[in-house]
Amino acid sequence: MNFIIRCLCPDDLVPVDRLRAELGWNDTIADWERLLSLSPEGCFAAEQNGQVVGTCTSVCYGNALAWVGMMMVHPAHRRKGIGSALLRCCVDHLRQRGVRSIKLDATPMGQPLYARIGFVPEWTLARWEYRGSPMAVQPASECIQPLAGKHWPAILALDAQALGVPRGRLLRSLAAASRRALVYERGGSILGFGMLRDGALASCLGPVVAGFQAGERLARCLLSGQGDRPVFWDIPDRNEGASLLARQLGFAFLTPLTRMYLDTNPVPSDPSRIWAIADPAAG
Ligand SMILES: CC(C)(COP(=O)(O)OP(=O)(O)OC[C@H]1O[C@@H](n2cnc3c(N)ncnc32)[C@H](O)[C@@H]1OP(=O)(O)O)[C@@H](O)C(=O)NCCC(=O)NCCS
Repeated sequence: MNFIIRCLCPDDLVPVDRLRAELGWNDTIADWERLLSLSPEGCFAAEQNGQVVGTCTSVCYGNALAWVGMMMVHPAHRRKGIGSALLRCCVDHLRQRGVRSIKLDATPMGQPLYARIGFVPEWTLARWEYRGSPMAVQPASECIQPLAGKHWPAILALDAQALGVPRGRLLRSLAAASRRALVYERGGSILGFGMLRDGALASCLGPVVAGFQAGERLARCLLSGQGDRPVFWDIPDRNEGASLLARQLGFAFLTPLTRMYLDTNPVPSDPSRIWAIADPAAG
């Protein structure tokens, strides 16, 4: 074993983003910066001969829940134990912090690695992709309005219902980085929120957290008039309304993912309220 595991630092971001691009992932430097600023001590790099050859990040939502992400190893350095060492280091760090629940969204390639150290499937999801012509602009709906400061208490309550905990710092950072951030309000209550941001390869729809009617309206409004860039949309399979809408709008299934938890699941989530996850690296 001639690699070391150390903390990821801002100087690593240009080379690790090159690795990210080689894998064809959609994250941007801003996404890496967000993860590092949310968790400066919880993001790790594997280094060999002075080169970063792998990464693994984590974000904590209080002490209740942490998310592991950006697990990648350069193709030339795989099957040498680097991925497993990165994951163990991340999990040890989170356990030392006293985090009660650890989750992640696994690619088919990552799933066996996670299963080996005790991660268990919670539910499945799928990445859907849109590559058609720009979608028609939806007529304005009086229920939909831009997300504003006064909406945050309701947004965090909705997020906690869906995810099990509120992700305040993450959501505020994503909202600031999003091209569009909207809420659905009816009868004086906020019934859903959603965002659309730019990724490296495609726009990214998510998070969208809402009940049935609000979720559909938010997704349609966020997508309408978004231009001719492709769009990625990560949908829990159990949210059949969202998958059906994606199909109706012309999205095609791209790849499966599996949401997993380590050992036990004291913070269960409700996929029927999740119309789009925020990001596989953050839940
Ligand atoms: C998933 C990924 C991170 C694994 O990284 P890795 O460094 O190859 O992982 P490891 O070496 O620890 O384990 C991979 C395999 O090598 C085996 N292995 C570990 N050390 C070994 C060694 N010294 N010699 C031979 N095989 C070894 C492991 O047993 C494991 O085998 P298995 O898949 O048959 O069970 C890597 O394949 C990757 O970057 N994939 C693309 C991105 C991706 O999908 N990431 C997951 C996101 S959720």
